Amino acid sequence: MNRVLVTGAGGQLGQHLKKLASAFPDLKFTFVTKEELDITNEVALDTFFNVNPVDFCINTAAYTDVDGAEKLAQEAFKVNATGVKLLALSCLKHHITLVHISTDYVFDGKKEEGYYPEDATNPINVYGASKLQGETYIRHILDQYAIIRSSWIYSETGKNFYTKISKKLREEERIGVTNEQRGRPTHAKDLAEFILQWIENENRSYGILHFAGPEIMTWYEFAKKIAREQGLGHEGKIVKDNNYRSFAPRPAHSVLHMHKA
Ligand SMILES: NC(=O)c1ccc[n+]([C@@H]2O[C@H](COP(=O)([O-])OP(=O)(O)OC[C@H]3O[C@@H](n4cnc5c(N)ncnc54)[C@H](OP(=O)(O)O)[C@@H]3O)[C@@H](O)[C@H]2O)c1
Repeated sequence: MNRVLVTGAGGQLGQHLKKLASAFPDLKFTFVTKEELDITNEVALDTFFNVNPVDFCINTAAYTDVDGAEKLAQEAFKVNATGVKLLALSCLKHHITLVHISTDYVFDGKKEEGYYPEDATNPINVYGASKLQGETYIRHILDQYAIIRSSWIYSETGKNFYTKISKKLREEERIGVTNEQRGRPTHAKDLAEFILQWIENENRSYGILHFAGPEIMTWYEFAKKIAREQGLGHEGKIVKDNNYRSFAPRPAHSVLHMHKA
């Protein structure tokens, strides 16, 4: 039976992996939150892995505040780069396969037709740069790993675009949403399922993989879809806001296509 550790278990993806765990009875799970295992703490990592044997480590731990990272670059790099490096070194020492989650924001978004895993990276914000540095460490340290890049992760609970728009639909008369970026919204449950199926598959392919939802859309189109799904007749409340500027620049076309590098 493969023993699976999930780091960053208090987050959106971590919670969905937890919900799905019982559907994978052949895997033995341990979930650790930031408070239980801080991936930037080398001593804590060493202590943990010395007493807890693990076969696969799914790293969902990350600094994910894209705008915040512009101001707190050091904090973003500490978790997304240095923390990932320490985790990869622990995986090397303890013969663990690392399954790490990365992002479409490693790309600059200038390629309108979208990105395959082997395409050249060129992040345009600090968050993307910190996540790319984490990827680079893994590639240098480990032979056997999966870096799974995903995009626009959402779910019906927690803090994400879906819940933010749902709340605004209930509370506001008019909601302006940018129509300038295109991507693939990915339900956290689908990503969680993909990760666990990857672990269960004995013919799994290693390296960089892309996994994202089936539909390509803009944030405006996604907001409309959310309104439609809720069936409250609120669709007309949502308008295009092309003057919206986020603090951190975002890639214009961050469409991920599947396939291995
Ligand atoms: N959300 C998206 O749209 C998106 C898109 C593409 C890729 N991704 C990637 O997908 C992964 C999962 O994202 P998510 O949406 O589940 O993010 P999330 O909800 O922000 O969860 C990340 C978790 O990591 C924890 N964490 C932060 N620093 C840590 C540390 N030093 N040690 C251990 N845990 C730490 C956070 O705890 P605190 O909240 O207490 O800080 C949080 O519980 C991340 O790698 C992210 O970069 C996300």
